[in-house]
Amino acid sequence: MRVACVQFDCQFAKPQENLATALSLMENERADLYILPELFHSGYLFVDEQELHELAEPVPDGKTVQALEDFAHKNGSGIVAGIAEKSGEHFYNSAVFVDETGFRGVYRKIHLYDREKLWFAPGEAPFEIWSFRDVNLGIMICFDWIFPESMRSLALLGADLICHPSNLVLPYCQNAMVTRCLENRVFAATANRIGRDDRDVIAIDFTGQSQITGPDGSILVRASKDQPSLLVQDLPLQQARNKQINEYNQLFTDRRPDFYHLD
Ligand code: ACM
Repeated sequence: MRVACVQFDCQFAKPQENLATALSLMENERADLYILPELFHSGYLFVDEQELHELAEPVPDGKTVQALEDFAHKNGSGIVAGIAEKSGEHFYNSAVFVDETGFRGVYRKIHLYDREKLWFAPGEAPFEIWSFRDVNLGIMICFDWIFPESMRSLALLGADLICHPSNLVLPYCQNAMVTRCLENRVFAATANRIGRDDRDVIAIDFTGQSQITGPDGSILVRASKDQPSLLVQDLPLQQARNKQINEYNQLFTDRRPDFYHLD
């Protein structure tokens, strides 16, 4: 399966421009599945709730998801994209999954990072997986990576590829994904943004280096720190089904949950 991470500088409060930038990068090269950054249409650094009222969209009826559905339908592709979602009284830091058949589902970020907690409600639904062609996709968003339970949950559900829309700030994730993938024997596609959100009172720099990581922990491809790019790789995703480490060890059946303290 040809998987592509879309990396660019998402401009704060410029949803149409951000959508156009993402689509033009995606039009450069055909892929089965495109992963876009977290909050790719709105930008990241909100400074008050009114901004979310203006920028968050209903899922799946908002303009951005509709445009992604059109692209997916026209190109016969899947897309996982980070979206600021408005639902009733709540805002969620979400990722939608659409494919050529239309809207497939939404994941609402479970582990909110830093000031996200001021505006967003944490996702209240457990991790889940979606079938896409002959593989299973899991979705987590950015800071979810720091909790090993996120990818473990998705791997135990049968995910072959972890789709990982991101706006990474800390410098650790890309290297940590080596271990996350190795300890779960799954592929991961981390689509990170570049650039800076500068809101006068506060500013954040993002780390770029979008990355596709293999189930043996190999970094298959990594983008630059500061250039927009489409990071494309053909992935033998079925390889993630093999959890055998050697003749005597199997990653999942060798687990001893009776001896773990998880609460
Ligand atoms: C993050 O979760 N956007 C750091």
